[in-house]
Amino acid sequence: MLAYAAHLANPVMYMEEIVVPRLTRHRVPAALPVADIVEDASKGLIKSPRSMPPKYFYDERGSQLFDAICETREYYPTRTEEALLRSCAHDVITQLRPDHIVEFGSGTARKTRHLFDACDRAGETAAYWPFDVCEEMLHDSGQKLVQEYDWLQVNTLVGDYLGGLTGLPPREGRCLYLFLGGTIGNFTEDEAATFLDEVRAIMRPGDGLLLGADRVKDSEVLHAAYNDDSGITAQFNLNLLHVLNRELDADFCDSNFEHRALFNTEASRIEMYLVSRRRQSVRIKALEHTLELEAGEKILTEISRKFTPANLESLLNDAGLAVQRHFEPDNGWFSLVLAEVEGAPVTQS
Ligand code: SAH
Ligand code: TRP
Repeated sequence: MLAYAAHLANPVMYMEEIVVPRLTRHRVPAALPVADIVEDASKGLIKSPRSMPPKYFYDERGSQLFDAICETREYYPTRTEEALLRSCAHDVITQLRPDHIVEFGSGTARKTRHLFDACDRAGETAAYWPFDVCEEMLHDSGQKLVQEYDWLQVNTLVGDYLGGLTGLPPREGRCLYLFLGGTIGNFTEDEAATFLDEVRAIMRPGDGLLLGADRVKDSEVLHAAYNDDSGITAQFNLNLLHVLNRELDADFCDSNFEHRALFNTEASRIEMYLVSRRRQSVRIKALEHTLELEAGEKILTEISRKFTPANLESLLNDAGLAVQRHFEPDNGWFSLVLAEVEGAPVTQS
């Protein structure tokens, strides 16, 4: 594999380590300025409206809790997207014949296995590049994948995709980019536009982007998905406080906060908050600051935007991408869109 050999020759530049045969680890340098947790907390927590970026949910425990959310009865997006992937994988793989599959926010890469299975069946091989902030998750899923697929080269990319994509190691041949799980909805409109511009900038004619996005639907269904009865989403939300305590030497007490998620119909988004149960002071040593919170004060920890097919199409078009295929279930609960660089068909011989 040429691209692989090329960056092996320059391990310092791409900071590549070989973990086991067919499994490497790269740290992706940020090309755009990205704030660290100290900066994000001082911008987001000190004055209201208070908020924190969602990427801090995903330490090792947070990633495990997210995985458990995906198994809950109420959280339909994972199951729905997985069924779509299962049924479209063969078409996508045989149409693109990708040499590389690059996935943003890959998590456990559970659903991505349908694409590897389709490669297996079509006699294709591809290198997999999962890109995630959670290093433990990347490492564990990478180890499992090289054991499960004896042809798969896995190159993990540890980093923050908000830092831009120009720092990715070079790849030769066709790329299929994946952004699944409705994670595009966790961006604001501006962040989503910037991110898709970045993706478009690294795409070449013949490459594809498979984007999974959650759809506008009955607000009860949406509400339940972010308020599961077993309280796993609540634990996931509250886990942010443990991350803040550890990283910022703070003394948040999770029993003083409650999880709240609601669907804001006007903005077409789920908003998730940690709500202060009482008037309280929280010391954040790394910021040399004490937060004074009133009873009922909220910290916005996540948004999850819900799309219509028209919204999605214009989001992609604005970035210079064209919808090539749109996969959706009969109930229209989720969209999986295959996009290509505008004016450049993905179809390959
Ligand atoms: N794609 C998986 C996981 C979705 S959860 C699925 O569909 O089930 C979102 C994933 O994105 C998590 O694994 C999280 O660690 C990762 N993530 C969140 N913010 C990120 C960022 N700024 N840069 C890189 N990865 C990020
Ligand atoms: N991308 C997922 C979504 O928007 C992330 C997610 C699901 C999530 N459930 C959550 C994030 C609960 C925070 C809390 O659906």
